[in-house]
Amino acid sequence: MRPSVVIILAAGEGTRMKSGTPKVLHSIAGRSLINHVVEAAATTEPDHLVVVVGHGASAVTAHLEEVAPWVTTVEQTERNGTGHAVRIALSALSNAGVSLSQGPVVVLTGDTPLLTGETLQLMLDSHESYSAQATILTTELSDPFGYGRIIRRGSEVVGIIEEKDATPEQKLICEINSGMYAFSAASIIESIDQIDSRNAQGEEYLTDVIGFIHSAGGTVTGVITPDSNDILGINDRVQLAQAGAIMRDRINENHMRAGVTIADPASTWIDVDVDIASDVTLLPQTVLRGPTSIETGAEVGPGTTLISCEVGAHAVVRHTWGELAVIGSGASVGPFTYLRAGTEIGAEGKAGAFVEIKNSQMGVGSKVPHLSYVGDAHIGDHTNIGAGTVFVNYDGVNKHTTEVGSGVRIGSDNMLVAPVTIGDGAYTAAGSVITDNVPPGAMAVGRANQRNIEGWVPRKRPGTVSAEAAERAGASTSAASDTVSPEPSPLDSDQN
Ligand code: UD1
Ligand code: MG
Repeated sequence: MRPSVVIILAAGEGTRMKSGTPKVLHSIAGRSLINHVVEAAATTEPDHLVVVVGHGASAVTAHLEEVAPWVTTVEQTERNGTGHAVRIALSALSNAGVSLSQGPVVVLTGDTPLLTGETLQLMLDSHESYSAQATILTTELSDPFGYGRIIRRGSEVVGIIEEKDATPEQKLICEINSGMYAFSAASIIESIDQIDSRNAQGEEYLTDVIGFIHSAGGTVTGVITPDSNDILGINDRVQLAQAGAIMRDRINENHMRAGVTIADPASTWIDVDVDIASDVTLLPQTVLRGPTSIETGAEVGPGTTLISCEVGAHAVVRHTWGELAVIGSGASVGPFTYLRAGTEIGAEGKAGAFVEIKNSQMGVGSKVPHLSYVGDAHIGDHTNIGAGTVFVNYDGVNKHTTEVGSGVRIGSDNMLVAPVTIGDGAYTAAGSVITDNVPPGAMAVGRANQRNIEGWVPRKRPGTVSAEAAERAGASTSAASDTVSPEPSPLDSDQN
């Protein structure tokens, strides 16, 4: 049974969060609290979804326009209670000419992110099978303090009594109101105007409609939720963390059942929008955020955070922080690697230890194995960047691009001063500062020639361990003319 409308109440202040951010905009698993509820509601395919906003209304509305533009918001300027909130939502719908005759009216709260579509469906199925006028989602708590209690006569629900209005006997009831309901449209429209605020809190209680519907001869049933976490409301940061941990466990369990190995689920945090293929292995302390995707056979972690990254099949990513990066299939990243936005590592490529890469695209099999910074570069296929190389992309004002061809061997400890182009198959000597373009196939040497001053140590540092060692090795002590080494040896670049 599809609801004609879902109303989500989210106008409350959330004082106990002690936050400048409206409560429902706090997030777990990469999604705001309100959007978790919206997504659960969306699975029931309502004709309309209305969120009642109040505290932080403009921020909540702007957020919903971004993440769920199909949702309507209605502002409740004074928080006169849950009944008042539903009443203004219903009148906004009626003012907009919406007819609610087709399906039930569902009411939810915006701070219960663990609610699932399945649980909502259970409530709707029960509502339909009993032809009920009102169906309440309930649960049994060993400590029901603070919640509205479900008053039953036999199996029939006759009313809900709030904690502050309850008698000592009523306070002993452990079945509580989750604040989530399905109503027949006619019953809620008829009873919502009967609510007053003659109660301990001076508020218009939505819960009062249950008694009205029952008294008018309507059928009211309660459905006990299979998992009491589904209705866990977030009021403070402690509950936010508890809900986050429960959601983490649920998400991890789903991935494990779908064939993902998670070595340490307690330290593995995966956002709701992450996509992981079967036979992926996640090692401890892995955090996958945003719309990250990981293809089959890849191994990620330990100690890795990937935000909106793509990891190809059979890639290995260890101790890495990656953001908006694409890692090709069979590539190897880490340990201790920082991949920034716009990084693309080709298939079978490598970014090794203490390497930072930004806005750079590398071709198939190209490697930056050690201690390097690569920024604003295009690198061809099967190119090797020697240890300790820096792509000097910033002149203090502007960023410039470096083009490195295919089959290139950049020697260790190079500075590639952009803008500069290294042609296909070229080599650069270790320790070079490359400021001019290098033609394909050339060897570029950009460093001072070496001088050896023979006998300097025994003469200038006599009696030191160095001088003694030199003398044992037969070093001359006489002043000799400087010798200049011949041809610079081409490379000491590391090809591993
Ligand atoms: C409400 C229920 C209680 C139930 C509990 C479950 C009533 C009278 N009581 O109590 O039976 O056990 O939820 O958590 O409904 N809100 C508005 N506008 C308002 C007041 C509230 O939008 O004027 C929203 C709040 O933001 C919140 C929800 O409605 O999302 C519930 O309001 P809250 O004040 O938390 O009600 P409770 O006292 O917890
Ligand atoms: Mg509450």
